[in-house]
Amino acid sequence: MEAIRWEDSALYLLDQTRLPAAEDWLRYTDYRQVAKAIQTMVVRGAPAIGITAAYAMVLAAQENACKGDFPAAMSRAKAVLAASRPTAVNLFWALDRMENLWLSAGPDLPRLEEEARAIHREDVLMNEAMGRAGAELVPQGARILTHCNAGALATGGYGTALGVIRAAHAQGKVSMVYADETRPLLQGARLTAYELVRDRIPVTLICDDMAGYLMAQGKVDLVVVGCDRMAANGDFANKIGTYSLAVLAKYHGIPFYTALPSSTIDRSIPNGGHIPVEQRGGEEVTGFAGVPTGPVDVQTWNPAFDVTPHELLTAVITERGVLRPPFDRELAGLVHN
Ligand code: MRU
Repeated sequence: MEAIRWEDSALYLLDQTRLPAAEDWLRYTDYRQVAKAIQTMVVRGAPAIGITAAYAMVLAAQENACKGDFPAAMSRAKAVLAASRPTAVNLFWALDRMENLWLSAGPDLPRLEEEARAIHREDVLMNEAMGRAGAELVPQGARILTHCNAGALATGGYGTALGVIRAAHAQGKVSMVYADETRPLLQGARLTAYELVRDRIPVTLICDDMAGYLMAQGKVDLVVVGCDRMAANGDFANKIGTYSLAVLAKYHGIPFYTALPSSTIDRSIPNGGHIPVEQRGGEEVTGFAGVPTGPVDVQTWNPAFDVTPHELLTAVITERGVLRPPFDRELAGLVHN
């Protein structure tokens, strides 16, 4: 399964706002529209946002290659894309990587396209490596809880947390995956359950508020989630609700893992207090798909992510292997190519 394609100098995105009801592919040739697609979550998930932004910079280069002051036009395009969503650091990582190339090579469209394709390709390889490393942590007959969607749809393919689950399932180790529905936008229900059902991996969909009782019943052996940005000390942002799960897992003595490629690590910030947490509109809380779920005039609070302190993490799964505490030292030793 894939959510991003580059064909004939255009970007195609699987519209994730419509899944699972419809599988619609949208075509983009204007980077401004791509920025809007990221903001409105046609495409979402930290690595997928980075890959999409890289291709959007190719669109910007196509538009500006024959005009004057190419670097200035590219910087403007970069700023538009950088303003789309603030939390996932992969967006800024991919934009910086593309910028290094256009500053050194200029409007070299084949090279820029190849760089975006490389970012895409490398992401899939990192996910597969992460899957192999993470599967080692999964016991036979495991019942695994996950949150939001950190699958093929959130990445270049295969997935981070779902990559670990896919690899463990291929080894015959997974007896059940519990997918939190993940209000307000239901990525767990609409995307994770959809991916796992398609891959015939046993999945049980639960409402977010059922996770604690599920753990208390002894039905969860481990929790694995994705990550949008990890600070130098291992504190990390992920979909709202992740922190609650980590606290619950600690209380119940259940291992709690996050899986992430090294492009999701932000060594420039010392801890999670520095992660910019996106606030989204109240209409996501007061309704879903146009149906009211609360009074329209009620006050709302809608942070899209929360920050989990590293103390609650059992281990971090990366493409370079499994990191154990102390995470600050382990992360400092992990250099992304
Ligand atoms: O708001 P979203 O859907 O972009 O949030 C996605 C998540 O929080 C994922 O868990 C995270 O990006 C990791 S995806 C491999």
